[in-house]
Amino acid sequence: MEPKSKHIYWHEGKVSKEEREKLLKQKGVLLWFTGLSGSGKSTIAREVEWRLHDMGKLAYVLDGDNIRHGLNSDLGFSPEDRKENIRRIGEVAKLFVDAGVITMTAFISPYKVDRERARKLLKDGEFIEIFVKCPIEVLIERDPKGLYKKALSGEIKEFTGISAPYEEPENPEILIETDKESLEESVEKVMNYLKEKGII
Ligand code: PPS
Repeated sequence: MEPKSKHIYWHEGKVSKEEREKLLKQKGVLLWFTGLSGSGKSTIAREVEWRLHDMGKLAYVLDGDNIRHGLNSDLGFSPEDRKENIRRIGEVAKLFVDAGVITMTAFISPYKVDRERARKLLKDGEFIEIFVKCPIEVLIERDPKGLYKKALSGEIKEFTGISAPYEEPENPEILIETDKESLEESVEKVMNYLKEKGII
């Protein structure tokens, strides 16, 4: 997005992303988890974060519910607000990636166009889309926060998967199916991908 004022200039620092990556012995990338509420995005991301930390890698999770308490506390769940939510997250994540951090975002991010916009902020190979897939019937059954019950009764409006859309990724770099695989298997999938690509 172009700045509102034209008197704004981009400054390059003296230290490059590559130099920071050398220092950290890792590559700065973005693992973009997307999927319905309750599918397991945050749980998997936090487990991956822990595994990476344990290996001496710098990783950080930007999480839907938490970001909506601070940076995005002015946003709700209308299509426009979700778009702005994802736009800001994409920009923040880009800074983390530039800092050399293995960054993870765990947002429903229901619109394909918004996810693609986030992808375009980064270089080839830096944006890794992880589709955390789970059938809606299973999620209604799980319902740990009781949100699906409220959405089905109409108490919560515009709830993703019930009364608001979710556009599934067609070609995610990683597909995780939480109704078919264990947490350990899902985490292993992500860790293997990072190793295969030479990110860690
Ligand atoms: S989005 O669509 O990407 O902007 O959503 P996100 O920022 O990830 O926030 C999703 C979490 O907010 C809670 N919640 C809702 N989700 C979907 N639709 C509606 N209307 C809604 N209202 C509140 C819900 O707990 C989501 O948490 P997760 O972690 O995804 O289960």
